[in-house]
Amino acid sequence: MKKIQISPSILSADFSQLGKEIKRLEYAGADLIHVDVMDGHFVPNLTIGPPVIKALKKNCKIKFDVHLMISPVHKYIEAYSDAGADIITIHPEATDNLSASISKIKKLKKKAGVSLNPETKVDIIQDFLDQIDLVLIMSVNPGFGGQKFMPEVLDKIKLLKKIQRQNNLDFDIEIDGGINFENSKIAIEAGANILVSGTTIFKSNNGDIKKNIDLLKSL
Ligand code: DX5
Ligand code: ZN
Repeated sequence: MKKIQISPSILSADFSQLGKEIKRLEYAGADLIHVDVMDGHFVPNLTIGPPVIKALKKNCKIKFDVHLMISPVHKYIEAYSDAGADIITIHPEATDNLSASISKIKKLKKKAGVSLNPETKVDIIQDFLDQIDLVLIMSVNPGFGGQKFMPEVLDKIKLLKKIQRQNNLDFDIEIDGGINFENSKIAIEAGANILVSGTTIFKSNNGDIKKNIDLLKSL
């Protein structure tokens, strides 16, 4: 079994102190930093873009797990790569040519992730799974932090694990949305090895992020 990794979403951090918040996460044992990029078009919310990511990345070593909720995504992949993204995750609905977008990410020597919304089926990425480094399963509809976890998406994780076993594949499975101390165990049992969490990490236990990261890992 792969080691469980925690990728805190900075969407729930104090945006006026983002650099410090990332340092705090690094010291608290985060494995990755999950950066939610939203365009007000693919999802009904707006966040940050390449200049902010570049400035934040300059001061830290931790890998950036950049979740692009933007459409059309293809022409912006290079900008996020240049800004310092280590993992670039895109949604299939946001590109005309998923294969070309995955290849572009790989050519830039970044890890390529593809994200499935709660209603998006695994079939859509089935033919590309041998080129993908990571599948991000959304357990809420993308756009906002603090939403309720949708347990029905766990079936897709189980299906992905089965496909992995049958085809000897090794991509990571990340889950994003509404992860808390109650559901992290079932997400891991289903086969997720990277947990994204915003609200639970920044708000539980009076914002004790080290305790919250440790708890998510140990459940
Ligand atoms: C939702 C984002 C998530 C979100 C997670 O569109 O992709 O990464 O910020 O936050 P919580 O853990 O609060 O659901
Ligand atoms: Zn996300």
